[in-house]
Amino acid sequence: MQADIIVVAAGKGERMGRELPKPFLPVGGLPLLIHTLRAITQSSLIANIILVVAPEREALCHDILRAHGRFHVPVTVVHGGAERQDSVRLGLAALDTTSEIVAIHDAARPFLDREILERSIETAALHGAALVAVPARDTIKRVGEDGTVVETIPRQQLWLAQTPQTFRVALIREAHARALAGGVVVTDDAALLEHWGQVVKIVPGSYRNFKITTPEDLLVAE
Ligand code: CTP
Ligand code: MG
Repeated sequence: MQADIIVVAAGKGERMGRELPKPFLPVGGLPLLIHTLRAITQSSLIANIILVVAPEREALCHDILRAHGRFHVPVTVVHGGAERQDSVRLGLAALDTTSEIVAIHDAARPFLDREILERSIETAALHGAALVAVPARDTIKRVGEDGTVVETIPRQQLWLAQTPQTFRVALIREAHARALAGGVVVTDDAALLEHWGQVVKIVPGSYRNFKITTPEDLLVAE
């Protein structure tokens, strides 16, 4: 069972506060994006990579791929949109018509394990939708606008969503089309399926697969 993967890299990186968006920042001497693509291409289950970038970064992206990106998997570069959800939808539109399973992954998560990616593909093939997640380690509080604790949320049932999130293509396309028509905005793809009452299976992930979001994360990544 092979799958395609959409790598979303079209964000602005506002929380990082740098001129360049995160996928183009150097980590260990290489652009972050290259680490992520190398991790993905460890798996022989990946047939095609759709790389979603902002139009104004397309030239830079091609330069980086030319310099560092000798992959055995074809990489197609497409333009993203204003929100992550738009970037994913535009990536889905670029999939080949024969594509059956698609993984969606943040470019900002370079520490993806091959085993976890492959488990998410197998789970999506079986159940339709797979979400890589880790159990919450800290106690989580709901806090009011005034900065006082409203409640403690029992930790046993809390998981932190990561990517990849992997789906049967028809299912995730339909979910995105319905979201667009209905004005539904969410922060991850699995949430769109949950919104329509679809089963989403958890694939236990790894804390290493964290998302690089702030300058501190970049230090940890180094
Ligand atoms: N992303 C995207 N298109 C957008 C927004 C985000 O492709 N319109 C991508 C980012 O490039 C990133 C991933 O989605 O790889 C996860 O998003 P996030 O960590 O929020 O990155 P940014 O949106 O770039 O950062 P920020 O929210 O701090 O601006
Ligand atoms: Mg963002």
